[in-house]
Amino acid sequence: MLRLKPGHVDVGGVRLGNHLLLAAGILGTTGASLARVLASGAGGVVTKSIGPAPSDGHPGPCVVVLDDGLLNAMGLPNPSSDFVDEITSLKGKPVIVSIFGGTPGEFSEVAAWFADIAAGFELNLSCPHAEGYGAALGSDPEMVEACTRAVTRLGLPTWVKLTPNVADIASCGLAAEKGGAHAVVAINTLKAMRISTGLRMPVLGNRYGGLSGRAIFPVAVRCVYDLYEACSIPVIGCGGVSSADDVLEMMMAGASAVEIGTAVLDDPLVFREISEHLYGTGGEDAASLVGCAHE
Ligand code: FUM
Repeated sequence: MLRLKPGHVDVGGVRLGNHLLLAAGILGTTGASLARVLASGAGGVVTKSIGPAPSDGHPGPCVVVLDDGLLNAMGLPNPSSDFVDEITSLKGKPVIVSIFGGTPGEFSEVAAWFADIAAGFELNLSCPHAEGYGAALGSDPEMVEACTRAVTRLGLPTWVKLTPNVADIASCGLAAEKGGAHAVVAINTLKAMRISTGLRMPVLGNRYGGLSGRAIFPVAVRCVYDLYEACSIPVIGCGGVSSADDVLEMMMAGASAVEIGTAVLDDPLVFREISEHLYGTGGEDAASLVGCAHE
């Protein structure tokens, strides 16, 4: 199999230990779990999304395990500004703080709390099941641009995580770029639902949730491909990645780095295992691979 040259990489203004990052939402709620994921071979980590006020999230059930994926409606539970203390010890490490707000001003307020600690920000403009947040803003390119600009003003690397639940993801990517984003991340989960035939009602407490895992990988590849065609800033792939070959495919579609989320639940050592297959001495420079499927 094709191998990549190991070592540090600079993506979207952030120096990463390798091309693989922990995606937001999994193992990202404590400093200890983030440190453990870094120690287990991730080149960077993205925290659970932090917002302007503490929240317990949606009522349960919040997760449905499926054959080829996971359906969740956590509802953006988070400790808000208390999370600053949780990750202070990780200052200087490649920790990207995922943030959300209901307005550009709220994005800016939350980002400012972490300005001394974060290696960068990832704006959650894409959660598909949180009223007034996430995709509710991120489906509107003008709002994407305004929220992005509100955070890039702070001068730290700013990535914008986009929703696939739109007709034209490229227009949202271009709006992020116009707002000064250093990278776009594609994709967050697909809005989805399961119904219990026994109970005759939706399984999730929130009814709607977001689908992640292997089932959404082809959608993620298509979105990365579309964004690479449209944007000049780096694209970071996310969605259903679970093997070294998936990482290479994402890169060929246009991803400069790749986030891994749901696969961590099946295998907490997934970063180490993917790295062992992905990297090797004498390996190819990733730059020659990124976007090669477009040529
Ligand atoms: O519900 C959640 O906390 C999920 C967030 C997301 O999908 O971005």
